[in-house]
Amino acid sequence: MATIRFINVAKSFDNGKVTVIPDLSLEIADKEFVVLVGPSGCGKSTTLRMIAGLEDISSGELYIDDKLVNKIPPKDRDIAMVFQSYALYPHMTVYKNMAFALKLKKMPKNEIDEKVMWAAKILDIEPYLDRKPRALSGGQRQRVALGRAMVRNPKVFLLDEPLSNLDAKLRTEMRAQITTLHQKLQTTFVYVTHDQTEAMTMADRIVVMDKGIIRQFDTPQKLYNEPADMFVAGFIGSPQMNFIDAKIISENGKLKVKFSGYSFEVPRKKTKSLEKYIDKTVILGIRPEHIASEDDAGESGTCSMTVNAEISEMTGSETNIYFELSGKRHIARIKTERKISTGESVKLFIDPEYAHFFDKETTKAI
Ligand SMILES: Nc1ncnc2c1ncn2[C@@H]1O[C@H](COP(=O)(O)OP(=O)(O)OP(=O)(O)O)[C@@H](O)[C@H]1O
Ligand SMILES: [Mg+2]
Repeated sequence: MATIRFINVAKSFDNGKVTVIPDLSLEIADKEFVVLVGPSGCGKSTTLRMIAGLEDISSGELYIDDKLVNKIPPKDRDIAMVFQSYALYPHMTVYKNMAFALKLKKMPKNEIDEKVMWAAKILDIEPYLDRKPRALSGGQRQRVALGRAMVRNPKVFLLDEPLSNLDAKLRTEMRAQITTLHQKLQTTFVYVTHDQTEAMTMADRIVVMDKGIIRQFDTPQKLYNEPADMFVAGFIGSPQMNFIDAKIISENGKLKVKFSGYSFEVPRKKTKSLEKYIDKTVILGIRPEHIASEDDAGESGTCSMTVNAEISEMTGSETNIYFELSGKRHIARIKTERKISTGESVKLFIDPEYAHFFDKETTKAI
């Protein structure tokens, strides 16, 4: 069992002069894989370090397994932390690096051996046990760092950008390995990253943070399909969601969305909430992948636009088209077999069912 509960936790530095986390409440379930994402400086590492006990809490309560841990030192929290920098002991072999914490605990030699071999097997680093860290690749080192955490049998794994030193291919591989590791260990994982692909692929639930505030805490699907506000909508998904100024109008008894000379009927599921915005400007949000070209629009495309392809990027199966609407640049990610050249006029289709709407003032989803 390892639940983690923040109740109105605040964190400030410099004797209260700098508030990094104003008021955080968050409940992480037992065995859950939770990812913290957000821009640099938003307080992800600080949150993780408070769980580990490496950072004091300025006010509020932090519980691990229903036990108030505000005053419990890191070594008594039964938590293991893995850092971006690996922090391996360079003069020790892989085996000794992994055995070190257990030796300090005076665990019998045969038990240590059992634990180290168990972790080495799961992580596939058995062939390197006698090597020093400098003779390992980045990915292998990161696995040793994970192994060192695993042998201690912690209740909670905290990982702070563990993959950011690795190249793209290795990162993808390690991503899958950590997911498998979580399934095997059946413990709570809290993982920090600013890579939203990592967050989306690994997490049971994602915490989207901005300036020490939780914008949304939900499953990857929910964040993608129902972002709570423009910040979350812009943060989750790549390329970023397009935000377009649009007006809601009532025409012949029908609710319509008008923008840059185009219009479409408000989908039924949104009519009730958008009625309040008649004759007002809202932000229309369309993900690039929800804009289709003539080649794959099918029946769904009910709002067509003719745009000028300012830039066209072929990314393999898909092409990113950059185009302008009312002086603002937007992106469509379309499937097409043919090469689209710069300056070409392209017909694009928006499927209203996939349209998001945001309040221009509060930035909250409508
Ligand atoms: N010891 C400290 N004293 C003063 N300010 C600090 C201290 N540690 C962190 N901060 C500030 O707290 C804020 C949050 O830092 P934190 O390291 O948690 O961000 P982060 O979300 O992990 O960012 P990154 O993605 O860059 O790692 C930053 O503005 C940082 O400057
Ligand atoms: Mg950080």
